[in-house]
Amino acid sequence: MAKKFLAAVAAAGMAITLAACSGGGAGDDGSTDDATGGGGDTMTEGGLVGVAMPTQTSERWIADGEAVEAGLMELGYEVDLQFANDDIPIQTQQIDQMITNGAEALIIAAIDGTALSAQLEAAAAAGIPVISYDRLIRDSENVDFYVTFDNYNVGVQQATSLLVGLGLLNEDGSEGDATGPFNVELFAGSLDDNNAHFFYAGAIDTLQPYFDDGTLVVPSGQTDIEQTNILRWQQETAQKRMEDLLTSTYTGTDLELHGVLSPYDGLSRGIITALQNAGFAATVSEGFPVVTGQDAEIASVKLIADDVQFATIFKDTRKLAAQAVTATDAYLSGGEPEANDTETYDNGVKVVPSYLLESDIVYAGNIQELLVDSGYWSESEVASGVAE
Ligand code: BGC
Repeated sequence: MAKKFLAAVAAAGMAITLAACSGGGAGDDGSTDDATGGGGDTMTEGGLVGVAMPTQTSERWIADGEAVEAGLMELGYEVDLQFANDDIPIQTQQIDQMITNGAEALIIAAIDGTALSAQLEAAAAAGIPVISYDRLIRDSENVDFYVTFDNYNVGVQQATSLLVGLGLLNEDGSEGDATGPFNVELFAGSLDDNNAHFFYAGAIDTLQPYFDDGTLVVPSGQTDIEQTNILRWQQETAQKRMEDLLTSTYTGTDLELHGVLSPYDGLSRGIITALQNAGFAATVSEGFPVVTGQDAEIASVKLIADDVQFATIFKDTRKLAAQAVTATDAYLSGGEPEANDTETYDNGVKVVPSYLLESDIVYAGNIQELLVDSGYWSESEVASGVAE
């Protein structure tokens, strides 16, 4: 603790010097030859911050990483941004290296939320504050702060969008005209990601009354997260599971499939490919099953605009990145970040003070308002389905 305080005070000193000397430094690429952050003999940089992101296979994590990096650099920090290719040993090595290189704070979106205890112990011993980014790091007391979205509510929104797609609810939340019964299948995320459990809990709690009165039926009988999870959120695994569900439960029967709860756009696209290969109608209006999602990835936004995927959940990663930057700056300026939730996120050892952001459901009709008008995607990106 004492060490942490000293590090924070030293960093605050550097930050003040920086503010006095540089005034922002447009065109500064943030690099420095004082990479250890320990010398303190230059007046050009703040300390080094390590930013560990899980993968570049999903565009949201690239956007997260780049936004955090840009925000920190704007405040004068030096940034070591790493992506780990969804490989746990790579991520642990990257974090070890950041600590060795003299990182003064760590921002970590874990691949496996339980796999980083040794790294975090080393960080704590070196007085380095650790901010858990989007995904809660579990089973360690050495997590100082958590920035994320209201993940239970994301699950509620995913289930709500499924109900809207089926006509059981209207977009304004009022009761829809449809009565069912409807056949649906359920997917969950990766079990080693704490968020997957929150998303699924929010979704199942929302769907439960419809299961109870028979409005919704899961013909495969696979409703437990042990059965529905997709390891590492892999698109191909989701496609394969959807193909297997069709073969085991639907093919050669009279059963129709009306909807699929999917917790992430990458999984949704795997599911959609399986359904397209099985010969369903081309669009939702023509009878293609209602498929949900998350992250507003550009390929999925286009599928929504094209009436193939029904909805997604928009989590503005720019806002999340800004919170991570604010929290880091608070620690490195000798203070504490401000939490807006100190109850929800128990990591198995302690409740981690958190800052939670809100998310929105994206339907075809509000792509313009939520994603284009806010500058998240451009009109031409939505039209092409490719990030420019
Ligand atoms: C994130 C989601 C993302 C998923 C897969 C979760 O931890 O909260 O936004 O869809 O990981 O990358």
